[in-house]
Amino acid sequence: MVRGYTSRGLIMRTAAEDLLRTLVDARNVELELLDGLADSQMLGEKGHFLEPPIWEMGHVGWFQEYWLLRHLGGAQTILPGSDAIYDSFNVSYRLRWDHSYPSRRESLKYISEVLERSIGRIDGRQPTDAERYFYTLAALHEHMHAENLTLIQQTLGYPQPRLSSFDNAAANPPVDGAYQPHDVEVPGGTFMLGAAHGEPFVFDNEKWAHPVVVKPFRIASTPVTNSQFQAFVDDGGYGRRELWGARGWDWRRRAGLTHLLFWVRDGARWLERSFDQLAALRPWHPVACVSWYEAEAFCKWARRRLPTEAEWEMAASLDPTTGQKRRFPWGDGPPTREFLYVEDCTEGIALAAESLEGSDPINLGAGRVAGEAEPGWLPSNTAPWSVRSPWASWMLLWLRRHFPGGKLRMLATRVS
Ligand SMILES: [Fe+2]
Repeated sequence: MVRGYTSRGLIMRTAAEDLLRTLVDARNVELELLDGLADSQMLGEKGHFLEPPIWEMGHVGWFQEYWLLRHLGGAQTILPGSDAIYDSFNVSYRLRWDHSYPSRRESLKYISEVLERSIGRIDGRQPTDAERYFYTLAALHEHMHAENLTLIQQTLGYPQPRLSSFDNAAANPPVDGAYQPHDVEVPGGTFMLGAAHGEPFVFDNEKWAHPVVVKPFRIASTPVTNSQFQAFVDDGGYGRRELWGARGWDWRRRAGLTHLLFWVRDGARWLERSFDQLAALRPWHPVACVSWYEAEAFCKWARRRLPTEAEWEMAASLDPTTGQKRRFPWGDGPPTREFLYVEDCTEGIALAAESLEGSDPINLGAGRVAGEAEPGWLPSNTAPWSVRSPWASWMLLWLRRHFPGGKLRMLATRVS
């Protein structure tokens, strides 16, 4: 049996109101992230992936204008010369510190005008399928850049952005000291990897679902924690050549790393820098900001391995009782407070909602979150779901905004 096949074939008709709410939500997050930056920080520092925040600001508006007003609407740009600065397909990122940018005020005026015109195009009428696609694309693109802005601010040690939806208590839940990490069994089989026709929105790199054969495997039901990763570091993992691949070892040596980039040794203990603050490492917290090379070396040390894309997607989405993939643990309907229990995690690298009803091998990866449970938020037969970068952060931000008091958990990334 081919598992993960869906014959839904229905495109959900998103109303203009929902498209516009999503678009405005994305903009609000973007602006909140920029609000905390001083003018002197808007150009940032030159470095790979460290886009200048002033470029980020204009680029999201340019992208929206390009697809919604120019492509769909046939309009001319309202900011002549913008293509030469903000077109990331055709202008090298190496030039981003050399442009003559509009001022911060002018940039805000430009992207606000684009947003207003984008709203005006479809407000009060039924959008076409093309409009549904490109409006969703523009909103998701802006959320992805919100992720990038957050990464830039973390890397450069800027203050933590003040997001109106951030809930400090939700970000620091009570810890269940009795919880023990464990694996779940996934039976394998032929699995439909990728997005099925009929999904309301699909990025082109997920097209289209095709069968892949997956052997039975086991996967951890919860994330690798700081404590687990620290054991690797304290065991000299960064200095043991045999644990690293050739490219990983070369990267580590060049970077001069003996531990994770944002970890700081303080005598016998470890601290972690979060934006401009140093704090003691939280042992239970999912380890974050780990490169692929480091994850690979950790797995070798722990006698594990990283999952393949197919294994990950299968563990995260397949309903073993029906053989079909579910968009969410409860099915294909959108998240609501009735179904979702969300934890806020600013470092999101991979996220998964978990059952609150205890672990069950048939529920792939379901785990207990004792002490955080609010019974009734999830049905008892739920399985976890996950999103991966670049989906992780836009989904996280969307969830934060819509479920500010909720809980969300990061999902494990290792299998044996
Ligand atoms: Fe972009």
